Parts: sequence; structure tokens; C-alpha cells
Amino acid sequence: MVDDLISHASKIKKNPEKYFDILKSKTMLMIFEKPSLRTRASFEVGMTQLGGHAIYMDIKDSPLGKKESIEDTAKTSSRYCDIMMARLFKQDSIEKLANNATVPVINGLTDIFHPCQILSDLLTIYEKKNKLKGLKLCFVGDGNNNIVHSLLLGCSIVGINISISCPKKHEPLGWVIDLAEKNAKKSDSKIEILNNAEKAVDNVDIVYADTWMSYHIPKEQEDERIKTFKPYQVTAKLMANAKEDAIFMNCLPAIRGQEQTAEVIDGKQSIVFDQAENRLHMQKAIILKLLHKI
Ligand code: CP
Ligand code: NVA
Repeated sequence: MVDDLISHASKIKKNPEKYFDILKSKTMLMIFEKPSLRTRASFEVGMTQLGGHAIYMDIKDSPLGKKESIEDTAKTSSRYCDIMMARLFKQDSIEKLANNATVPVINGLTDIFHPCQILSDLLTIYEKKNKLKGLKLCFVGDGNNNIVHSLLLGCSIVGINISISCPKKHEPLGWVIDLAEKNAKKSDSKIEILNNAEKAVDNVDIVYADTWMSYHIPKEQEDERIKTFKPYQVTAKLMANAKEDAIFMNCLPAIRGQEQTAEVIDGKQSIVFDQAENRLHMQKAIILKLLHKI
């Protein structure tokens, strides 16, 4: 399935005009409990370019599950739209939405996963390295994080060896590591959780960083988190431990001087804006797959 989505996203990227009318009169409802630039814009632009329409719902004034149950929201929305996408605080909430909707529901980020980001990242890695299986990726920073969890699952499915370098108290969730280990057995890849950043990036093809201040982190935790994660900042010195042709990735939004230095994110090895662009092409593939159009 992952390979299939990557191959369709590449085709769509090469010939977008072939898909211009494919979703005529189809509507996506997008529900956001947290802010977004890339996810919102890429899904909305994607629907427009496919000939359909997207509705953006900011639910600040009517929080999900407050005025009516998530079940009722799911059932009602399914009567109007053909597909839904939601960015929610809790993984449980998106599962409730999906289990009660009669149309496909896409996870646009929760506290635990960010699958669409990692699917498009795999497309970007494939474009840069011409393969996936056998590559080595190291994530450096906050290990108990939606990007890390989706990277663990995505990399282990396609056979990328993955190491996570993070403070002991911020390691990924055990049950996600267990799921990834099962995938890794099948794809013959390796998963490592390490607390030493230099060792973890040694000879890797890809260094990946994500914000230390995820959307749900309260302001008052910021100072303490900066102290905790500082030893895990991606610097030019750390990048020098990776392969000479290693690439640097960050799903964005990024803060220069926190998870990486400006020199790294604005440097030659950084591919962060290619990553951002590919969100658009991959979202289209995901939508078309779920609507049985490809
Ligand atoms: N990477 C990503 O999902 O960005 P947004 O939060 O801007 O959607
Ligand atoms: N870990 C980040 C990802 C942002 C796209 C967050 O949850 O805010």
C-alpha cells in the first residue's frame, strides 16, 4: 500500500493536469482542533486541483464532542461530504470519528500519529535517494512525538533502518515500538532507540528533526524543554557524523536555534521545502485512493 501510494503520488506530481476533473462535485470536510499551514493548504489546494471542493472547519467556537457527540458529528458530516480529514488532539477522537463516519476519515495529525506527513516524506526520500529499503534514518530530538511514531511505522514498513536519539524520559511509546518491530521483522530492517545523538547519526543517510514545541505543548514548559533537548539539537557538527551525502529533514514548522541551527536548515543538505511541497502530491494520492479513483 505504501509503495503504491508513493508511485501514484509521483505520477500525479508529473502530470497534475491528468487529474483535474477527477473529483468533480466531491467535497472534503476538514476539521481542525489545532493550527496548520501545510496540512490545511495542501489538502485544500489538492481538492481544488482535483476538481473538488474542501470546507475548512475551525472548531474553536464549537469544540468537538461538546455540543454534540463525536459520533453524531461523524454521522451528520457523512450525509454531506464524500471524505473527511481531521487534525485532532487525541488519537481516540479520530478513531471515534472514523468508526462512526460512513465516508473515509483521514488523520491530519493527532497526539500520537501524523501519517500523511510520513507518507509524503517517504516520497521525498525516494526522490532524493532513488530507493528506500536499506537506507538509514536517524530522528534526533523529542522521541515521544507523533512524527517519531509515524516514522517508526513508515520506515519499518518500507525497510528503512531507523534510530531514534532522544532523552531517556522522552522515548517513543512502547506499543508503537512493538508494532514497528513486527513490521521490521517482515521488512528485514532495524530499529534502535539511543540516548546519544552522535552515535545515533553515525553514518546515516537521513537526519530528521521535529519541533521541541509541538502544538499541544503549553508555553510554561518551553524553558525546561529547551534545556532538556539542547543536547539533541542538529548542528553542522552533528550532521558531519552522518554520511557525506546525507539529507536533513524537518516536517516544519521549525524553529531555527532550537531543534536545528539555522546553518543546518538553510544549508545544502536540507530538503525541507521539497518535503513541504510533496505534501500536496501525496495528499492527492491518498484522497484518490480512498475514493477508489486510482
Ligand atoms: N508539517 C505539518 O503538518 O505542518 P502544519 O502543522 O503546518 O500542517
Ligand atoms: N510534532 C509536531 C508536528 C507538527 C507538524 C506537532 O505535533 O506539533
